[in-house]
Amino acid sequence: MTSGFELDRAASGRRAQCYLPAMNPFRRHFLVCLTNRPPSVQHSCGARGSTELLAAMQKAADRKGLRELFGTAVTGTTCLGLCESGPNVVVYPENVWYAAVRPDDARELIESHGVGGVAVERLLHPDVDRAPPESAP
Ligand code: FES
Repeated sequence: MTSGFELDRAASGRRAQCYLPAMNPFRRHFLVCLTNRPPSVQHSCGARGSTELLAAMQKAADRKGLRELFGTAVTGTTCLGLCESGPNVVVYPENVWYAAVRPDDARELIESHGVGGVAVERLLHPDVDRAPPESAP
């Protein structure tokens, strides 16, 4: 479904039909914090290996064909605000947060949550209220 709206161009008096991309283009979205700060300044996910984590998760997702089969994206993002516990990953739309995720966890995270829709309990963020993800697509 395409969402759109008409934009009035008051200056020219013409009306233009503008279309916005769908606001929720992915069924599920893994966001990996990539913020990197010097350890002497503040804890950060990047300083704890989140770049390698993102690469491992994207590789695992590509192997499973997640984007094509399940509409799932795995991308980097900036600080999620829970820097002490990184590397952090949040998954939307379920709003499931993971903490201290390592590249070695990538495959399990993608296969369990990305493919199966089942959160990886041992990686759930201890300080974030959470609801279990919905069933797999
Ligand atoms: S640096 Fe990753 S949550 Fe802040």
